[in-house]
Amino acid sequence: MARERSTYRCQECGLAAAKPGTCPDCARVGTYVQLVEERVALARGVARAGVTSSRPQPIREISVGDGGHRVSSGMAELDRVLGGGVVTGSLVLIGGDPGIGKSTLLLQVSRMLAERAGPVLYVSGEESAGQVKLRADRLGPSPVDLYFVAETDLQAVEAHVAAIQPRILIVDSIQTVYLPGLESAPGSVSQVRECGARLMTLAKGQGIATFLVGHVTKEGAIAGPRVLEHLVDTVLYFEGEQHHAYRVLRGVKNRFGSTNEIGVFEMGERGLTEVRNPSGFFLAERPKGAAGSVVVASLEGTRPLLVEIQALVAPAGFGTPRRTVLGADYNRVCLLLAVLEKRVGFPLQSQDAFVNVAGGARVAEPAADLGLVLAAASSYLDRPLRGDLVVVGEVGLAGEVRAVTGLETRLKEAAALGFTAAVVPQSSLTDRGSHPLDVQGVGSVDEAVKVLLGS
Ligand code: TYD
Ligand code: MG
Repeated sequence: MARERSTYRCQECGLAAAKPGTCPDCARVGTYVQLVEERVALARGVARAGVTSSRPQPIREISVGDGGHRVSSGMAELDRVLGGGVVTGSLVLIGGDPGIGKSTLLLQVSRMLAERAGPVLYVSGEESAGQVKLRADRLGPSPVDLYFVAETDLQAVEAHVAAIQPRILIVDSIQTVYLPGLESAPGSVSQVRECGARLMTLAKGQGIATFLVGHVTKEGAIAGPRVLEHLVDTVLYFEGEQHHAYRVLRGVKNRFGSTNEIGVFEMGERGLTEVRNPSGFFLAERPKGAAGSVVVASLEGTRPLLVEIQALVAPAGFGTPRRTVLGADYNRVCLLLAVLEKRVGFPLQSQDAFVNVAGGARVAEPAADLGLVLAAASSYLDRPLRGDLVVVGEVGLAGEVRAVTGLETRLKEAAALGFTAAVVPQSSLTDRGSHPLDVQGVGSVDEAVKVLLGS
């Protein structure tokens, strides 16, 4: 007897449970997500329609055909993150906070692709035709091959695809489209997953490059696009600070290229413009000769990026000293301040410390450690570092400065921007190659502080 079973499913990670409650998986990472009831009776079999029967064949005899063919999107920053252009039949998920600029980016890309690659169908479940038209007009005249439809029913979208035969399909957003055959609400895990699977079949079957927009919610009642990540070919995150103009497109998964690549954009009056020289952009307003300011040469994927780290260390008032960190990992900064206290002997327990990465940029890699330490030390001593210096190095708990990868690339970028000196890990200097800068190796934090700040 087939009876309708009900399951409780976490709307964040997709975990299924037999009973309601909080999700054990998400509770572990700090967010308490309610398990929501879901009926799955009709779900199976819907997405399976249309899959052709398969036949194994020797891999050396497989012809690539049209798959793997790339077209440039007309935006070099996007092409870089995609691994060299838009791949025919690929499924790309672009995630990001609401309002960060996902629709703007995709509308701009659609316009360029409509001119280069053929018909583009832009499906929006969030905005009306009028709203999108207003935005498109702000960006300039639209090409003839760019079609728009405001639609949320995925079956209707499939019918439009059959009629228009687009080369590129944009679905904005995956959380608003739904399959009427499923009982759960649009945006629930089962809807997102089944719609994603349907769109993948469509993309692969007809060679349509498909972009899906997915909102990332903090303590989401709506399904996060995480349930889609294993399904799609490429996952990009569009990030940035609400109050800064710059935006970073970051690759987190890519079946057609390397990950960790970034593309940098600036949001302006007329949409997004590419930032070809992001280091120059981030360093534009750097104060000269200020204590607590250090430039680090970080590496994002294969791309070097110079950013300015600022620290302010000042005597604490009453009680526990304050630690505030923007643009870097809070725990990492606390760890580095402890290293500075123990290994160099600065009494930071009596000091408040504020750390900020200028321009709203972010540093995530350990190679920025030495820069963070030196910024704090420079501010504590109230002595500036020389202005034409960049710093690279990972710091260990023993106060040792550890080797970093890609030193040559980092130094080249620094030289290109007019820096003349660099402090790097001693152990990275083993290859006696000639460096474009005046390079000095240091082995420990203590040594770096002595050499640079004369303490
Ligand atoms: P949008 O693309 O709608 O964000 P998302 O789709 O990720 O939710 O972008 C919305 C923001 O971008 C909005 O706050 C206004 C801003 N914006 C500009 O500053 N300039 C522009 O030319 C456009 C089109 C948007
Ligand atoms: Mg949008």
